[in-house]
Amino acid sequence: TIVRLADYRPSDYLIDRVELDVRLHPTETRVTATLALRPNPAGEAGAPLVLDGDELTLLAVALDGQPTGPGAIEVTPRALTLHQPPQRPFVLEIETQVNPSANTKLMGLYRSNGVYCTQCEADGFRRITYFLDRPDVMAVYTTRIEADRDEAPVLLGNGNPVEQGEAGPGRHYAIWHDPHPKPAYLFAVVGGRLGRVGSRFTTMEGREVEIAVYVEPGKEGRANFALDAVARSMAWDERTFGRAYDLDVFNVVAVSDFNMGAMENKGLNIFNDKYVLASPDTATDADYANIEAIIAHEYFHNWSGNRVTCRDWFQLCLKEGLTVFRDQEFSSDERSRPVHRIAEVRTLRARQFPEDAGPLAHPVRPQAYREINNFYTATVYEKGAEIVRMLRTLLGPEVFRRGMDRYFSTCDGTAATVEDFLAAFAAESGRDLDAFARWYAQAGTPTVAVAGAYDAGRRTYTLSFRQSLPVIATEAAAAAEPRPLVIPVALGLVAPGGGPAAGRSERVSDGVFVLEAPEDSLVFTDVEAAPVPSLFRGFSAPVKVDHALTRDERLTLLAHDGDAFNRWQAAQSLAMEVLVARATAGAPLAAEAGPEGDALGRALATFLDGEALADPAFAALVLTLPGEQEVAQAIGADVDPDAIWRARQTLRVQLGRNLGARLLGLRDALAQPPGAPFSPDAASAGRRALRNAALDLVAAADPEGGTALAVAQLEDAVTMTDRLAALAPLSLVPGEAREAALARFGETYRDEPLVLDKWFALQAMIPEAGTLERVRGLMRHPAFSLGNPNRVRSLVASFSLNNPTQFHRPDGAGYDLTAEVVLALDGKNPQVAARLLTAFNTWRMVEDGRRQRAAEALRRVAGTPGLSPDVSDIAGRSLAPL
Ligand code: ARG
Ligand code: ZN
Repeated sequence: TIVRLADYRPSDYLIDRVELDVRLHPTETRVTATLALRPNPAGEAGAPLVLDGDELTLLAVALDGQPTGPGAIEVTPRALTLHQPPQRPFVLEIETQVNPSANTKLMGLYRSNGVYCTQCEADGFRRITYFLDRPDVMAVYTTRIEADRDEAPVLLGNGNPVEQGEAGPGRHYAIWHDPHPKPAYLFAVVGGRLGRVGSRFTTMEGREVEIAVYVEPGKEGRANFALDAVARSMAWDERTFGRAYDLDVFNVVAVSDFNMGAMENKGLNIFNDKYVLASPDTATDADYANIEAIIAHEYFHNWSGNRVTCRDWFQLCLKEGLTVFRDQEFSSDERSRPVHRIAEVRTLRARQFPEDAGPLAHPVRPQAYREINNFYTATVYEKGAEIVRMLRTLLGPEVFRRGMDRYFSTCDGTAATVEDFLAAFAAESGRDLDAFARWYAQAGTPTVAVAGAYDAGRRTYTLSFRQSLPVIATEAAAAAEPRPLVIPVALGLVAPGGGPAAGRSERVSDGVFVLEAPEDSLVFTDVEAAPVPSLFRGFSAPVKVDHALTRDERLTLLAHDGDAFNRWQAAQSLAMEVLVARATAGAPLAAEAGPEGDALGRALATFLDGEALADPAFAALVLTLPGEQEVAQAIGADVDPDAIWRARQTLRVQLGRNLGARLLGLRDALAQPPGAPFSPDAASAGRRALRNAALDLVAAADPEGGTALAVAQLEDAVTMTDRLAALAPLSLVPGEAREAALARFGETYRDEPLVLDKWFALQAMIPEAGTLERVRGLMRHPAFSLGNPNRVRSLVASFSLNNPTQFHRPDGAGYDLTAEVVLALDGKNPQVAARLLTAFNTWRMVEDGRRQRAAEALRRVAGTPGLSPDVSDIAGRSLAPL
């Protein structure tokens, strides 16, 4: 069934208070829900009450304390219907039973490594009790949790702890009360044997908050970084948005089986342990950065998501796009703003642009869905964040902040919409944001074509802009002619020899020109010499820019632009031109040579000599070539993934040769002095990143010398970052050294699942024909399990989503393996299966032979009887005729 935004109606009944009594048991958990209901004045009077359920066993129902009479209710595992509810406030008491040990979908109440935990977003609460499981029904919850003391000494719920005590032989209980009304998707309970680290935070309002992070006993030491990130997030949200925490406790629990990254349950965030546990020996710098960002993300949801929640799931971007924007800002402030911006854009281009260009394209606010869990996408999250960022660029930081304040204060305690959000900014700025709102409704990545012309006689420089949007049909809406978007273009002119060029235009304010019409042009006066335009500084809009700069102009930007993002972009564009030319040249290039590659090498040499050591993190990004998927996007159609890989390889070899001595010099200069203490801070991580980016190019140019370097680094490394960075080039060179290094690593970390994930992933991404068999072999490894989402993602999704040459094997075996795992997984965990199936997102772009084989594999999945709605939705949309 399709759910449509246009069909939204308020609920006929509301639930004001919920009392839950959860008696935990491995296979027979009993839940008694006491619901205080009343007819919704905004609903239909006299309508039946239909409570959602999913795989529930009903034990008892009572209405206002009396068992319901025969025929009064109708019960199926999916719904409990009360035919003639009282048209006044009433109380329903419902007792259900569930089996947490059999819950392999990891939605609702389940057990992970023996720990009871829950995941209710989007619609998992109905797997715990019958309920109005929709975000616009908000209630105050009191939860009593009871369990065997041995099995679950720790019992956690939403809100504040109220009391605890004995509950019969060997049993105990805890009662939690959450005073803030919330939708059911924010409900959580946890029960288990857990280790704890804790600290305190005093809010700007003077509230004393107990913060704690709970992890597997024995791993407490690995939870301190996350604990500290919670306190930093709390302080940042007060400083930056004036938002204080609103309960006496804030708990984070790490579990090892989790469908997504983490969940913002009120006062009780539950995390995939991959995003909590960190030690220098087991976590990379990227892990530390992710942990900090996701801790912040979930904490920030307390305002953008919990205090102000969503009216319906079409508004998902209201909380997710905004909260991603907030966590990006946090990371930028805590680390390096330009470096973080580049990382954000790399993610957007690698994940969101392909989604927007493929069969699963959808607007940031979709108009229809079959399975909402398939819409937790890069488009909703990352493009959603870009929309908020554009709003800030358009309104300026002060008005933006006032708009945020107004949004939080006017919508506090409500289930809001994107319109409510925009209305706050319209009111605060006095601007009409209707045209801007199209960003939420139109799918596809816009292209902005730009041309510049200098008139020496008049000393003017004219920039002409034309925006175009792809025409996209979705199952929700037939293709319509897209309407022009409001596109903030942050820009500047760079003088040919460096430095800002003179020249003014009245239509540029605070460095931003706003493109609103399909075509427009901008005239700068008093321009002394032909400048080089620096456009979309800081990536001011999520668009593709079609701007034919010469190589020299790009080199000018790389060397002299005042905007760090565009300096990086200049290097990327130079590399991209080489990569696309080589990948589409027809015959494979024999030589790792060519004048454009050498020119890029010279520019990078100058860049490295000048400033690599001043900002190593930035330099590492400048040295990193665009990824294979990004090159595929730039080519657009009839893509040959092998040709792309070869193009990238030849350029890596060429740059490694051109820069070899410098790179080795940098490695020495950046080496950590023996015995120096480890720090995960951004500056230290940046030095490791540049050192390892250098190793990557050196090893490409000289496999033998590179292997020796890598082997030495593997021996000496004191961080997981350096160890993995050494293992990566080794994994690319077939032979005994590789197998020995891999075997040894696997042995060393046999009891560290999160490290084994890195080991699985590295092997799954080897761009060789043998990888398919290697992956099949590793699927039989004792540490692998289809039941654990992290294992599936590290081994299978790394192969299907991050190894383009092998997923797209010409013989179709990569597609077959992926389809096979999707089908094997679907019966257990449909959400993870559906996510894996999105690997086929690029199937229409590849050349014809592969395309046929991909379509066959997809059709095989689509035609399998008994598919979950999750998988059948992705398969159906992927195959839908254009
Ligand atoms: N709200 C969570 C987050 O972004 C994501 C939870 C999604 N879970 C799901 N099953 N769809 O922080
Ligand atoms: Zn989120």
